[in-house]
Amino acid sequence: MSTITAAITAVGGYVPEYVLTNKILATMVDTNDEWITSRTGIKERRILKEQGQGTSFMAIKAAEQLLSKNKINPEDIDMVIMATATPDMPVASTGVYVASQIGAVNAFSYDLAAACSGFLFGMSTAARYIESGRYKKVLLIGADKMSSIVDYTDRTTCIIFGDGAGAVLFEPNLEGLGVQDEILRSDGVGRDSLKIAAGGSILPPSNQTIVDKEHYVYQDGKTVFKFAVSKMADVSEKIMQRNNLRGDDVNWLVPHQANKRIIDATSRRMNLPQDKVMLNIHRYGNTTSATLPLCLFDYENQLKKGDNIVFAAFGGGFTWGSMYVKWAYDPKQ
Ligand code: UT7
Repeated sequence: MSTITAAITAVGGYVPEYVLTNKILATMVDTNDEWITSRTGIKERRILKEQGQGTSFMAIKAAEQLLSKNKINPEDIDMVIMATATPDMPVASTGVYVASQIGAVNAFSYDLAAACSGFLFGMSTAARYIESGRYKKVLLIGADKMSSIVDYTDRTTCIIFGDGAGAVLFEPNLEGLGVQDEILRSDGVGRDSLKIAAGGSILPPSNQTIVDKEHYVYQDGKTVFKFAVSKMADVSEKIMQRNNLRGDDVNWLVPHQANKRIIDATSRRMNLPQDKVMLNIHRYGNTTSATLPLCLFDYENQLKKGDNIVFAAFGGGFTWGSMYVKWAYDPKQ
């Protein structure tokens, strides 16, 4: 009997229409295009502006795009994993609502929270369900409406984040393609460096938490940068060594899009030229759980069956990791 591996077999994505450029941000806070571009690589980001639309709106769009493009019947989906740091509501799973809205009526669903590593950790979870042999179609969605937790008077965070959603389908593979290896890590030392202080069980919402702006995301950028730049490169190098991969053997790096300088440090350590690095940070900024699937969405047509791909992410918590995947299909028409 051949071993079941878990392969990505379809990709979908969605970003809102409204484009928030560096130029517009420079009219809102004390910043400029030169600073943002040189420090982060970001030129613009998308924002979901319409009132009453949350993360689920974008997640549904990305999932529906995947389903219709690949002619997949939503009733055949076994489970939906929703990676997000900005659920529609604190209680009542966003994934459950998304699954119902897309017609995945035979699926069970839940949310997975690991900040910017949410999608990577979700890939690990999805792969285990497939490898068990019990489930045949697992839909993994990464979506975040970061604009809902960003303080647009704080220049240290408002320039970084954007909104978006991406989705992939995991299915069993009998040719040994798909997920090959992973290194996942976390360290609570990062709890105070990237957080929303209020609204949880420690500091419930109050008039004071609103006055103190504690419902917005706070980041100690320097500290997070220091960890991210070394940890993301460490695990990417390690997963290559462990699988006897040299720079020449890797076709693509799919890195979390938080800062172009962190991505460059990782690709340098892996000995990869720029043209093997998926990059869309200049167009979308940091969309948290959506960065990895939006990279796949943008580059899907360039991927070939058998390509060696390394995924890498770093996020709040701290959480980080890398994953080695053999791509399972040639570009679809
Ligand atoms: O995705 C989850 C994980 N997150 C990350 O990986 C993000 C990691 N951190 C970063 O990417 C970077 O730390 C930032 C992009 C957030 C900041 O870049 P930096 O090079 O670390 O800047 P800094 O915080 O060291 O600030 C340098 C200077 C400061 O001025 P002084 O003190 O040197 O006079 C800041 O006040 O730049 C100033 N500054 C700005 N200037 C213009 C900070 N933000 C801005 C801004 N525009 N938007």
